[in-house]
Amino acid sequence: MAKVTKVVVPVAGYGTRFLPATKATPKEMLPVVDKPAIQYVVEEAVAAGLSDVLFITGRSKRALEDHFDSSPELEAELSKQNKDELIKKVKDPADLANIHFVRQGTPQGLGHAVFMAKQHVGHEPFAVLLGDDLIDPRDYVLKKMFEVQENFGGSVVLLMEVKPEEIHLYGSAQVEKTNDDAVVKVVDLVEKPNQKDAPSNYAVIGRYLFNPKVFEVLEKTKPGKNGEIQLTDAMKTLAKDISPAEGGGLHAVIFKGRRYDTGDKLSYLQSVVQLAVEREDLGPEFKKWLKKFTGELGN
Ligand code: UTP
Repeated sequence: MAKVTKVVVPVAGYGTRFLPATKATPKEMLPVVDKPAIQYVVEEAVAAGLSDVLFITGRSKRALEDHFDSSPELEAELSKQNKDELIKKVKDPADLANIHFVRQGTPQGLGHAVFMAKQHVGHEPFAVLLGDDLIDPRDYVLKKMFEVQENFGGSVVLLMEVKPEEIHLYGSAQVEKTNDDAVVKVVDLVEKPNQKDAPSNYAVIGRYLFNPKVFEVLEKTKPGKNGEIQLTDAMKTLAKDISPAEGGGLHAVIFKGRRYDTGDKLSYLQSVVQLAVEREDLGPEFKKWLKKFTGELGN
């Protein structure tokens, strides 16, 4: 199987859970300490050798495009002030990868966003990373996903066990064991089910490796939940209706590491605090303050 080098990062959603902050600013640009969430995701992709990054963008995403571009005036100003460390911080995002953009037009769901990548990706397997879903670099998981794709072919997703009362926020997977405890075969999927209808508490989270067959499937996928073209519905077809010989089949890696969901207000706040506490420059002072503050909060 061809080596995966291309990654698709859909960032065209409305980000309604973060309005009004996301009226003119993409939610993927919200800062997690001092870097926008999306930069962590692109850094993860590049660390995995995915140096060709395609953003699926839409309106109000100018800030994101500018973030991954050079900024000559700012660099010149910082250079005058001999602020080399800051110049590096400004240049890093633009130097990270080969960045491309395709616009989604009206956002019609994650499946529709991924379909927009068809022409750029062509007939190779490719990765999809969600721009508001952060995986801690210490719990790097893409390598394991590549291995699974090499062993089984088809497509590979990442699953995480969530509390039963949280499964309605995710795609839920029905799975079968394999010889490897960390890997399962996905036999069915349901998008955002009620707790009682969920086939399991294994939730699909924002890392995917797709066989290009997914484009053919997405093209035929009808709008599903909320009238959107759901990536989950296309994955279900890959898992259930298409043989491995034809590019179908779906396996999953079970993720047990640290993940930060920055697309939801509460988990965004938790992510910022967790990552700030661990920073060498901020952590010690911040922890001291946090302990005092939580002590004052009482129960
Ligand atoms: P989400 O469902 O989390 O994003 O999609 P959203 O729709 O923007 O958020 P809310 O629910 O309204 O607050 C996951 C990722 O897929 C992208 C989003 O930008 C996000 O990074 N997405 C979603 C698209 O690019 N296009 C779409 O049509 C939908």
